[in-house]
This record gives sequence, structure tokens and C-alpha cells, in this order.
Amino acid sequence: MRRTATVAGIAAASLILAACGGDGDGGTDGATGGGGGGGGDQVEVFTWWAQGSEKAGLDALVGVFNEQHPDVEFINGAVAGGAGSAAKDMLQSRLQAGDPPDTFQAHAGQELTDYINAGQLEDVSAMYDEFGLTDVFPQDLIDLLTVEDAIYSVPSNIHRSNVVWANPSVLEEAGIDPAAVPADIDAWIADLEKVQAAGKTPLSVATTWTQVHLLETVLMADLGEEAYNGLWTGETDWAGPEVTQALEHFETLIGFTNTDRDGLDWPESTQMVIDGSAAYNVMGDWAVAAFEEQGIERGTGFVDFPVPGTDGMFGFLADSFTLPVGAPNPDGAKAWLETVGSLEGQVAFNKAKGSIPARTDADPAEFSEYQQSAIEAYADDAIVPSLAHGAASPIAVLNGVSDATSKFTTGASDLATFQSELATAAGS
Ligand code: GAL
Repeated sequence: MRRTATVAGIAAASLILAACGGDGDGGTDGATGGGGGGGGDQVEVFTWWAQGSEKAGLDALVGVFNEQHPDVEFINGAVAGGAGSAAKDMLQSRLQAGDPPDTFQAHAGQELTDYINAGQLEDVSAMYDEFGLTDVFPQDLIDLLTVEDAIYSVPSNIHRSNVVWANPSVLEEAGIDPAAVPADIDAWIADLEKVQAAGKTPLSVATTWTQVHLLETVLMADLGEEAYNGLWTGETDWAGPEVTQALEHFETLIGFTNTDRDGLDWPESTQMVIDGSAAYNVMGDWAVAAFEEQGIERGTGFVDFPVPGTDGMFGFLADSFTLPVGAPNPDGAKAWLETVGSLEGQVAFNKAKGSIPARTDADPAEFSEYQQSAIEAYADDAIVPSLAHGAASPIAVLNGVSDATSKFTTGASDLATFQSELATAAGS
């Protein structure tokens, strides 16, 4: 019940923003969407899954695509940089220059709504009918892809953001029981101090977007489900004392991180836990694919738990694929979207990517123990939208939050300035 109410609230907020967002009709001109537009012998697929375990996920999807559509050539338009940190700007330039890829990766929720409001996406609901997708995704998720009865993308997967990945040997060396999960951020800080005393990096982090990712999980932990959701509906005051408390925690946590953070992307910071130079890393559950790819086993090689204070919350994000207005190969894009939405495509992709299928009819037994736990959490927990991965806020808000965060963690602003800049970025 709680979950439905929460996500419905976020969907309602999207509609309100859509209504205020300028042209707002979502570009539902029906020019393509049903196919038949030609250009079907190739498809340029734009993602940020350019390397490592993320590329392995994309490769698995491409494997199914090549089987299902042997006549359509896959052109890899991936741009490196976790969370689309470089890709999203490049995509925006291409869209504005009238040079869209045939399909691009976009996060369900506010990020997608931005593209819809800008009239950059075609309605693909006819494909939902044609490919039998209407009933295979959770209604909450469909709501995040829909504006005014038109559906603008096909989801490939669901990731969880609020996960701590830890190295059990490093914890034991520091006198911490790897099976004992700290109850809240303060209890976790006590453990981070022990790791520091033992001479290892307590918490690994990387460049700005991963710091924003950490920040969102601290906000979830300290504010709780309702007040965290209120940050995105305007009901929670960004300038208020509960946010100050979360920012103080964030400041303390950043103090436990590696100083070379701004030069790293997520794979390097997660690798510090794999290699045993750091104890903990907060990262979305694409990290599990990095552990698994290197043969590191859950329990003995790594442990995972919700960020302390966020037990019972599922920090939600989902990737999806679009049909941009003016795509040169709409039939190629249609073929790609068919594979993305297919059961076979979702199983192959998500097994390699660490995420869980967006489709509800995949057999959990096909997936790893970690993924089975994520499938259960997604069903049982309160769903709260990720900030760093486009579910909670429009791209402009995230950009403002990222700038403020980078200033703060590089010492260019103090906590009070940080908080007021966040409030400005969020428009409150
Ligand atoms: C997220 C994306 C994930 C994963 C991650 C790290 O934004 O949704 O699929 O790719 O970035 O790059």
C-alpha cells in the first residue's frame, strides 16, 4: 500500500511538472512509434555502458538482439562515464543539433519527463500493444514512463541505489563483525573510525556523481521515507534542520573517504573494496556485477546491506530506452526496443548487469542470490526515488545539486553555503 502511494505521488509530481514545463504536450504527434518509418538495417544505441561489467551487460543484451534481429546491425554509441556523467551532456547537444541517435538510455521518472516535455521523444505505446508489453511491467513503473496516456520508453531493468558493499576481511581486521549491520549512520561512523584506526580507507568514493549518490542515501537514512519523498514534492524544506543533520553526517562520511576521489569513477572505488584497500563503498547494485565478474563470492568475498538507516527502503532507479523524434533508423530502434522488452532480453541483460528485470514474469531462480534479495526488497520495501539517477528530479536540479556537492567536498564552500545552494538547486 505504502509503496503504491509513494510512487503514485512521484508520478503525480511528474505530471504537475509536465504541466508547468512549457510545451508540455509531450510531442505526441504520432509520426512514428508504430514503425514503418524505414531505416531498419541498423540501430545506433546510445548508452553510458562503455566498459567493464556495464559493457558486459550491454553485450549480453546485444547477443539476444543479434539472435532476434539478425538483419539489423547494432552500432554502439556508448559514451564512457558512470551515471551518464559525460553521456547526458553529449546527448543533449546531439538532440539540440537535430542529430539524435536511434535510441538512447534514459532513467524512468523525472529525467525521462524532461525529454518528454522538450518534445524530444515519440510515443511508443503502439509498440507496447504490438509486443505485448502492456501487462508485463509493474504499473508504478509504467506510470513513471507515461505522460497523458502516452508511454515514452521501454524499461530494461531496475537498480537499487542504497547499498553498502564491504570487504569482510578488512572489517574483521578492524575488529568489526561483518554480519552485524550498523543500525544507523552514527553506528556506522563508529565502525568507520575502527577501520581508520586499522590503517585502511574506511569508505571509498569516486567523482562527483558518486558523492551525490552517497548524499542521497544519507538523506534517505536521516529523513526517512516520508520526509525524503517530501524533498521532491516540495513538502520537506531543504533549508530545515533535518537536512542540516544529514549534511553534517555527509561531511563526516566524506572525511573517511579516499582523497583521490575526484579522479576516479565508480569501478575504481568499488575495486578498492574488492582489493581490500577500503572497507566500504556505497554504490548502486551494478556493483554486484563487478564482484561477480571477478569471481568474488557473496558472504566470503563481499557482504552487502542497505545503507545504515535505510533498511526497508528501496532506492529506486530504472533504465529505459526511447525512440527520439527524428531518429534516422526508427525501424532499427523498434527492433531494439522489442529486444529490450522481451523476456529473453531482460533475463540475459539483468543477469550480467546486477539489476533485476523490469518485467514481472522473469523467474527469480535465474538470478544470483544478491539479485533474489533485491527482487524481494523491491516487492516488500518502500520505494523511494534516486536523485543521482534521474528518478527524483529533473536534470537541471541534479546538475545544481552536483555543482553544490562538488564545491563542498573540494572545500570551496562551508556547510551552510552547501545547504543553501542545495535549496536553491531544488527550487525551494
Ligand atoms: C546509472 C544507470 C546504471 C549504471 C550506473 C553506473 O545511472 O542507471 O545502469 O549504469 O549508472 O554507470
